[in-house]
Amino acid sequence: MIAIARADDWIVLKFGGTSVSRRHRWDVIGQLMRERAGEQQARVLVVVSALSGVTNELQAIVDHRDEAQAVAERIEALARRHQDFCAELQVDAGVLDARLAGLRALGPDPRRASDRLDWVAEVLAQGELLSSTLGVAYLRSQGLPVEWLDARDWLHAQALPNQNEWSRRLSVSCRYQGDADLRARFAGDARLLITQGFIARSEDGGTAILGRGGSDTSAAYFGALLQARRVEIWTDVPGMFTANPRLVPDARLLKRLDYEEAQEIASTGAKVLHPRCIHPCREARVPIWIRDTERPQMTGTVIDHRAATLPGVKAISSRRGIVLVSMESIGMWQQVGFLADIFERFKRRGLSVDLISSSETNVTVSLDPSDNLVNSNVLDALCADLAEVCRVKVITPCSAVTLVGRGMRSLLHKLTDVWTEFGRERVHLVSQSSNDLNLTFVVDEALAEGLMPRLHELLIHSGAMPVDEAEVFGPSWRQIDAADSVPRVASWWRGERSALLACAAKGTPRYVYHLPTVRKRARALADVGAVDRRFYALKANSNAQVLRALDAEGFGFECVSQAELDTLFSLFPRLDPTRVLFTPSFAPRSEYAAALARDVWVTVDSAYPLQQWPELFRGRQIVLRVDPGYGLGHHEKVRTGGREAKFGLPAEALPEFMAAARAADARITVLHAHVGSGILDVGHWPQVYAQLVNIADRIGTVSAIDVGGGIGVPYEPGGDPFDIAAFARAMAEIKSAWPQYALWIEPGRYLVAEAGVLLARVTQVSEKLGVRRIGADAGMNVLLRPALYNAWHEIVNLSRLDDPAGNAAEIVGPICETGDVLGRRRPLPATTVENDVLLVANAGAYGFVMANRYNLRELPQEEVLDD
Ligand code: LLP
Repeated sequence: MIAIARADDWIVLKFGGTSVSRRHRWDVIGQLMRERAGEQQARVLVVVSALSGVTNELQAIVDHRDEAQAVAERIEALARRHQDFCAELQVDAGVLDARLAGLRALGPDPRRASDRLDWVAEVLAQGELLSSTLGVAYLRSQGLPVEWLDARDWLHAQALPNQNEWSRRLSVSCRYQGDADLRARFAGDARLLITQGFIARSEDGGTAILGRGGSDTSAAYFGALLQARRVEIWTDVPGMFTANPRLVPDARLLKRLDYEEAQEIASTGAKVLHPRCIHPCREARVPIWIRDTERPQMTGTVIDHRAATLPGVKAISSRRGIVLVSMESIGMWQQVGFLADIFERFKRRGLSVDLISSSETNVTVSLDPSDNLVNSNVLDALCADLAEVCRVKVITPCSAVTLVGRGMRSLLHKLTDVWTEFGRERVHLVSQSSNDLNLTFVVDEALAEGLMPRLHELLIHSGAMPVDEAEVFGPSWRQIDAADSVPRVASWWRGERSALLACAAKGTPRYVYHLPTVRKRARALADVGAVDRRFYALKANSNAQVLRALDAEGFGFECVSQAELDTLFSLFPRLDPTRVLFTPSFAPRSEYAAALARDVWVTVDSAYPLQQWPELFRGRQIVLRVDPGYGLGHHEKVRTGGREAKFGLPAEALPEFMAAARAADARITVLHAHVGSGILDVGHWPQVYAQLVNIADRIGTVSAIDVGGGIGVPYEPGGDPFDIAAFARAMAEIKSAWPQYALWIEPGRYLVAEAGVLLARVTQVSEKLGVRRIGADAGMNVLLRPALYNAWHEIVNLSRLDDPAGNAAEIVGPICETGDVLGRRRPLPATTVENDVLLVANAGAYGFVMANRYNLRELPQEEVLDD
C-alpha cells in the first residue's frame, strides 16, 4: 500500500546500466521504490541509464555515420536487443514501437551525412529513452503505478562562457535552481516516476547530452530542482573508498563525507560518482547516498553538510592519463605578461588547466584526459601556439596521486614517510590546493599503481592520521569481499583441517607443505609448451621433500649460494649439472670456483669476476645476467632491476663485458634477466624475452634465453590467480617470433607459496587502549614477510574455523620489536583463546627459508603432507 506523501517531498534514485539490464535488477528497483513511497512516505523519481553497452553502440552509429548500410544494421541489432529484453521482462514488445520507429528514422535522417551535432545528440539519447520506457512497462506489469517523465521537459541546457559548439551540445550543464512554483508544477500528482539520465533540452529546443557520467549529474540536477530529501546513487560498489580497492584491497569504505571532500575524491580519480554531480546537491544542501545494488543492506557512503570536519587523510586517489605541459620562458626573467600569454593559448584551444607549478623561468601545468583532448589533435595545435612564446615540452603518460583530507597543511610534518616514498620515484610536479584539501604529486604513470598500496599503508591503514575511526571509516574492501565471496581457488587446507590440527599437536610453530599442490603447480608450468626448460629457484623453499617432488616433475634447480648447491647435490648426488643454474650476487671468488668445479651453469652479472679472476672462466660457457633497466614485483625490496638494484649488467656495459669475456676466453651462451618477484602481469616475460633477443643477436654466441622467475600468486582469498593460460599463449607467441633460442624460466614462489601454511598457537589475548591483540608463538622470527614487506597473509583460527568473525585484532609475535606483527585488522572470532591453533596461509614460499633465531628463539619445525 502506498501512503500519501507530502506534495513536494521527493527522493531521487539513480540506476546505472548494469542495474537496468536484467529482470531481477528491475525487481530490486521496484522494491526500493515501494519502500521509499510506503514506509518513508516520499514521492520517488528514478533516473535510469541505458542498458549496458547501448550507449557505446549508439556512439558506434555516430562514428560510422558515413556508412548507411552499417548504420542500418547497428540500429536493427539495437532494436533486437531491446525486443529480446521485453521478452525476458514478459512485457509486450509493442510498448517499444514508437521509440524504435524514432530510432530507425535517425538512420536515413539527412542530418547524418552533414556532421550535425543535433543529430548526434538525438542518436545518443535513444538508449535512455528506450530503457526508461521498458522499465515503466515492466513495473506497471508488476502492479506499480509508475509514470514516465521526459527529462528534457525539466532539464534545460545552459550555455557557459568558453564552451565550443561540441560541448554546447554534447557536454552540457543545466540550470538546477528550483522554486516552489516549479515543484508545484512538477509531475502533477504522480508519485512514482521514471525518467532518463544523460539527456536534456538544448537551447534550440532539440536534444542535448550531459556527457560522460551524465546520469549521476541528471539525478543531482533533479535532486536540486526538487529540493529532494536526498539523492541515492545506486551502483555496483558499496560506496567511496579510501583508495581504489582494485589497487589497494585494504582500502576502507568511507561512511561519511562532506561535499568538499567528496568533490575532491571524485575529481581526483574515484570513479564511483561523477564529480559534476556534487555541486548541485551541495548548493541545494541535498544529501547524496551511494548504495550498492548487489548489497542493498549496506549503508554505503553518505555525503552531506553535517559530516564532522575532522583533520586527516581520508583518501588517496590516482588519475591516469595525465598530460603535463612544461613551458620554459625564452624571454627575460620576470617577464611581464608571460602567464597571460600562455594561458590565453590554452583558452583559445578550449583546454582547462588543472594543476600548476611555477619557478622563475618555468611553468608546468597538467591537463586532464578530457573528451576534447582525446578526440582531437588539440594538443599538437596547442604546442604550436605555445611555441610562439616559450619552449614547450609535453610529458606523458603521467599519473596524479592525490592525498585528500582536511587540514593538509597542518599535517605536512607527519608526511615524512611519504616524502621518503616519493623521493625514490620521479616526481614531476607537486601541488597543494588552496582550499587545504588536497596534496597532489604527478609521477610517471608506470609508478603510480605500485605507490598506492604503500601510501595507503603509511597514511591510512597504519592509523597514523588523527581521523576519528568509527565516524569515517567502514570495513575494508577485503572484509566486504571476503564476507560475500566464495574463495575462487578452494584452499587445500580447509579440507585437511584435522590432519593439520594433528600436526600442530606435535609442536608449534610449524610449517606444513602439501605436496599435491606443489605437483599441481609444477604440472601447470610444464604445460606451457613454449618453455624449453624449467629451473626451480630453491631459495623459495629448500625442504628436501619439496625438492624431491620437483625433481620428479622434471624441474632443474636454480641456486644462489654454495650452500644451496651443496644441499642440492647431497640430496641428488647423481644430478646432471646442466640441470643446475648458479646465480650468485656479489659472492666471494671461492663460490664461483666451487660452482664451476661442479660444472653447473654459472651466471656472471658484471665484468668484475671476468677481469679479476679470468683463470676461473677460461674455456668456459657462461650465463650473462642483464639488467633491462627496470624492476617489478610486489614490493620495492624485491625489485631487482634499475639503478637502485645491485643486480645485472646494464646494456651500456655490454661492450666492456664482452671484451672481458673474450680476454678470459669465456663464451656467453645463455642470457638471463630477472627483474623481481611477485609479478602478475603475464606480458612481462615475453617482453623480457624480446629485449634479451636483441642483445643475444648482438652477442652472437647465445643459444638460450632465461627470462627469470617472479611469477606471482594471489595472497587474498578470492584474488585472481596467475593467468597461466594467458601466460602460455603469450610465451607461445613470442617464441614463434624468435624460435632460434631455447626459452628457460626459473620460478620459485609460484610452485610452493600456496602449498605451505604456518601453524602457530595463541599465547595471550589482550586489549590495550582500544586495540585488540592476539599473541602467537610465531612472529617475525618465523615469518618475516609481513614485517619486511608489509606482506598480507590470510590468518584464521583453525581451532574455531566456523565461529563468527569478531572485532578486528592485531596478530603479534613474541619478538621484542614493535614491527613484530603478522597481520593487522583481522576479524578473528571473539571466542579465540590461549592455545588455539592459528593458520597463516600461503606461507610456503620465503617462509621457513627466511626464519631466523632472533631473540635466540628456536627455528620452526617443518612437515609435509602427501596423498
Ligand atoms: N631467479 C632469481 C635470479 C631470483 O633472484 C629469484 C628470487 C627467483 C628466480 C625466484 O623468484 P620467484 O619466482 O620466487 O618470485 N623474499 C621475497 C622474495 C625474494 C625473491 C628473491 N629472488 C618475498 O618473500 O617476497
